[in-house]
Amino acid sequence: MSGVLQLVRADLRDFAGYSSARSAKASGDIWLNANESPWPNRADPTASVRRYPEPQPEKLRAALASLYGVPREQLLIGRGSDEAIDLLVRALCAPARDAVLVTPPVFGMYAVCARVHGARIVEVPLRDDSDDFRNDLEVVAERALAENVKIVFLCSPGNPAGGAIPAEQVLVLARQLDGRALVVVDEAYIEFAGVPSLAGKVACQANLAVLRTLSKAHALAAARVGCVIADPTLIEVLRRCQAPYPVPAPCANLALAALEPAALAATREHVATIRAQRETLRKLLASCAGVRRVYPSQANFLLVRFDDAGAAYAALLAAGIVVRDQRTALQLGDALRISIGTPEQNAGVLAALQRQTVS
Ligand SMILES: Cc1ncc(COP(=O)(O)O)c(C=O)c1O
Repeated sequence: MSGVLQLVRADLRDFAGYSSARSAKASGDIWLNANESPWPNRADPTASVRRYPEPQPEKLRAALASLYGVPREQLLIGRGSDEAIDLLVRALCAPARDAVLVTPPVFGMYAVCARVHGARIVEVPLRDDSDDFRNDLEVVAERALAENVKIVFLCSPGNPAGGAIPAEQVLVLARQLDGRALVVVDEAYIEFAGVPSLAGKVACQANLAVLRTLSKAHALAAARVGCVIADPTLIEVLRRCQAPYPVPAPCANLALAALEPAALAATREHVATIRAQRETLRKLLASCAGVRRVYPSQANFLLVRFDDAGAAYAALLAAGIVVRDQRTALQLGDALRISIGTPEQNAGVLAALQRQTVS
């Protein structure tokens, strides 16, 4: 059995999944095999959505594989990386027996998917060192080996902490957990970071998987296009566990257009602006009265501690600016997460916070 297949739930290893009409290998001119309407809807005069879409739109798969520098067999497209998180938990964890390891404060969907599926949750909190939040990967390895953990979710750059985990440390962890757990690195914000993606390492480390999304740097959050990059054997298993038509055709077409060279060049410019704005805003916020600490960030947001986070949140809201209140998250009782906006929006954030401390 391939090493990574050993990590899949025993009852799903040879599960065939649903065989959709669209996946049947047949050719013809008249398609009467999927109970679709023979006429388009009046709202769809070009009949662009009359028929079910390709289960994995091949052109988009190829474009994403090329963007991320991986073979297409290593890539599965889903409804955002959220779907990939859910699929991984369902395919690998036996409910009530296996566990998922998370490193709070971190993106909440790993624990939500585990909870809904009935998988146990093992928490190894980030360490708030003097200069940054850090992952304690030695403790992660110990707990994962001791507690039947099937998936370790790492977020790099971390949401909301903002820091990236050095690639070599992730690879050491994956080697330690080889045959025991899958290490999933969520790279939703990697485009904003000064470090390379781990996607290229999946080929030599089968228990490593990487999540990527078009929701952030590529500005397609509502299109819901994300993917998991993993060993082809695992990708096959996940595909069989996935809903039959996960990628709506209009979303696939939009995503393809967003990956054309001109659109990619514009995206890179926006990313460069966000990165520059992040550093400017970080310095200015750090010198703002009432701000206790601004964490370094490799993402498109800043995590900020305040003397009175509630008052800062209210002041921003009064100026019409909505930020993410982090006060209920572990270790973040005094913190807000502020996404980097346009230069004008960022100036508005500063002005609102400055007004609040003056008044
Ligand atoms: C770390 C992280 N991963 C995944 C997601 C979900 O992304 P998607 O829109 O691709 O589902 C988010 C969304 O905020 C996120 O912060």
